[in-house]
Amino acid sequence: MKGFPTMSKVQWKPGNMVYPVPAVMVSCGNAEEGFNIITVAWTGTICTNPPMVYISVRPERHSYDIIRRNGDFVINLTTRELAEATDWCGVRSGRDFDKFREMNLTALPATKVKAPLIEESPVNIECRVTEIRELGSHHMFLAEVLAVNVSDEYLDGKTGTFDMSATGLISYIHGKYYGSTAPLGKFGFSVQKTEKERPKPRREAEEENPAGGISASAGRSRKPRWTAKEKKGTGRKKNRKS
Ligand SMILES: Cc1cc2nc3c(=O)[nH]c(=O)nc-3n(C[C@H](O)[C@H](O)[C@H](O)COP(=O)(O)O)c2cc1C
Repeated sequence: MKGFPTMSKVQWKPGNMVYPVPAVMVSCGNAEEGFNIITVAWTGTICTNPPMVYISVRPERHSYDIIRRNGDFVINLTTRELAEATDWCGVRSGRDFDKFREMNLTALPATKVKAPLIEESPVNIECRVTEIRELGSHHMFLAEVLAVNVSDEYLDGKTGTFDMSATGLISYIHGKYYGSTAPLGKFGFSVQKTEKERPKPRREAEEENPAGGISASAGRSRKPRWTAKEKKGTGRKKNRKS
């Protein structure tokens, strides 16, 4: 490809825009002091072997000190049925409420950590903190996964396969929860198609059909990326309200 294509973009100020993410319920605490739940969207996998994850938590959260003190937590994946509890545990503090009781959730003992599992969640990931990175607004808890517990109702009795799609997992995108888990293809499907079935790169397809039969570009205004005026100024536009 020679040069850049023409396209229209608006630049926002730097911010968090990696979506979708999960909104998980992180359970913490121990049997003597009591348990708590914090909803966390800044979470993810960071290493396959050893299996490692992270959660980023603001130091002012009630859960922050609990996790720091105990050095462990459980990530509980959330479902459509748990959507309301997920949100509630993310807007109320364990300083004021017993979140398990208020949301009618059941604490089960974990096998490797002191923090409890949430029985109503289909997947509970037991994690031990290995490092705390004080990044800024949030401190990142890097943790090793010590055990994964799954609800047997989604296990195929014969094959032992876990039907993740049947659990109704939800995701979080830019301030809203979403319930769709409709599959678009399985891992590697893009290279399993024959040459003929594979979609052509947009440029190539447009050259073949300049009238614009390609739905992805239909109706979009096409203007040069940089105008003379924008080049002289900052070229940066204000963040849009969302
Ligand atoms: C969808 C959602 C995602 C959230 N993600 C985070 C997060 O990643 N890190 C964080 O510190 N707080 C996050 N929060 C806010 C906490 O869950 C919230 O402040 C909660 O009340 C803290 O509970 P605690 O005081 O009992 O620890 C999130 C809230 C919601 C609703």
